[in-house]
Amino acid sequence: MTDDQFIMAIDQGTTSTRAIIFDKQGEIVKIAQHEFPQIFPHSGWVEHDANVIWETVQQVVADVLIQANIKPFKIASIGITNQRETTVIWDRLTGEPVYNAIVWQSKQTAEIADELKAAGLTKKIHQKTGLVVDSYFSATKIMWILDNVSGVRQRAEKGELMFGTIDTWILYKLTNGHKHATDYSNASRTMLFNINTLEWDDELLELFNIPRSLLPEVKPSSGNFGYTQDFGFYGIKVPIAGIAGDQHAALFGQAAFEPGMVKNTYGTGAFIMLNTGDTPKFSDNGLLTTIAYGLDGKVTYALEGSIFAAGSAIQWLRDGMQLVERASDTDQLATNADQNDDVYVIPAFTGLGAPYWDQDMRGAVFGLTRATTREQFVRATVESLAYQTRDVVATMAADTKLPITTLAVDGGASNNDYLMQFQADILDRDIKRPIVSETTALGVAFLAGLAVGFWQDQAELTKMWQLRDTFSSQMPDKVRERKYAGWQMAVKAAQAFKN
Ligand code: G3P
Repeated sequence: MTDDQFIMAIDQGTTSTRAIIFDKQGEIVKIAQHEFPQIFPHSGWVEHDANVIWETVQQVVADVLIQANIKPFKIASIGITNQRETTVIWDRLTGEPVYNAIVWQSKQTAEIADELKAAGLTKKIHQKTGLVVDSYFSATKIMWILDNVSGVRQRAEKGELMFGTIDTWILYKLTNGHKHATDYSNASRTMLFNINTLEWDDELLELFNIPRSLLPEVKPSSGNFGYTQDFGFYGIKVPIAGIAGDQHAALFGQAAFEPGMVKNTYGTGAFIMLNTGDTPKFSDNGLLTTIAYGLDGKVTYALEGSIFAAGSAIQWLRDGMQLVERASDTDQLATNADQNDDVYVIPAFTGLGAPYWDQDMRGAVFGLTRATTREQFVRATVESLAYQTRDVVATMAADTKLPITTLAVDGGASNNDYLMQFQADILDRDIKRPIVSETTALGVAFLAGLAVGFWQDQAELTKMWQLRDTFSSQMPDKVRERKYAGWQMAVKAAQAFKN
């Protein structure tokens, strides 16, 4: 492996597709990005055109190679990381999708999830898959397509169709239909994969009436997934050597390889993941058990807690409340706010996620006085991200009894210094912010690079992970506990109000 080779990460997210080239030092050489349209056929439904997603992949791959002036044969391997759970079903021979991709956020299968719960399947599904029964995961989306799109069930039963999450769809396209595979991390988000036996679960497939022939082969996250055919690579066969769901890739990109290490990615929502090592740990408090990654013949498990409103709460300050012009203004405004009043904003716009899982509650504001200012309102909204993170991290610590060592952060709001300091204060733990904030792409580049010997081992990756800064708690215990007790009281009060 020479020093003038590179790794390409394809990061296919919910609103845009990106391709990022990394060098041997794990530094970003170039990024190309394309947004694509969201489709909302009915209230609460969210879909994507899978063919458009594939077009954006082709665009960003071509763009990034041109902009970086790097020839395709210099790419040692490709990694794919993706929005998880989003479901595509397509024709095995023509590659034509039978329906739009149903996106993870979409609520069109909520009734199917309710029926599964009413049938008393919650415990069985949790023990087998580590997941709570919810329309979020792929299984109900597959069931919906099979039963609502004309002719699809018959075609599926004849073995003519393929299912995939977005990684599988991109792999199929990159290999010109030669490969139908996924990795353990993505499989563990389908609600069909048994995370204990590491196999598709026949009992669940039967209960859900999903033909097994639809399903891809499941492989470790780092290894040989196939080679590119023609497209964008001028006939050069570049190995696709890493696949991981985006949150799992972010954990890997934070070099959080040891049990007890936690990462928080602040995106539209926030996804907190705790490495729990080589045995799955099950939560009684609504956290998900998931496979972090499969590597070197073994799998590493994680616990995950999702916060629905993180960056979206900041966007609401900007676009809905029009209290700030730019999201980044919230940092200064929160810093300038009077720190003595305890104002709480509960951003439960679509309910609260882990550990409350209360879909019906709505947002609320508490503690206003005649003296409350715009700055305090902004501060309270920013702080709600930190309080929600403490809710999840405290649940993780209680459920696993693992000593939580570090909390590494990434994503947009991790650039907000006020939030990072408050996060350290309210958690009473150090917050580590890395230099490379593109942790998701870096993580899958790591997985793809390890598979082809571009990097030797995880120890080398740990050395490459570079700290930008650490935030340590400066808040007296008494203040911390008073503030957090106020938050808990505010959440309870908000839960009592349903309209
Ligand atoms: O589970 C959904 C998650 O993977 C989506 O992530 O970054 O595309 O919003 P993102």
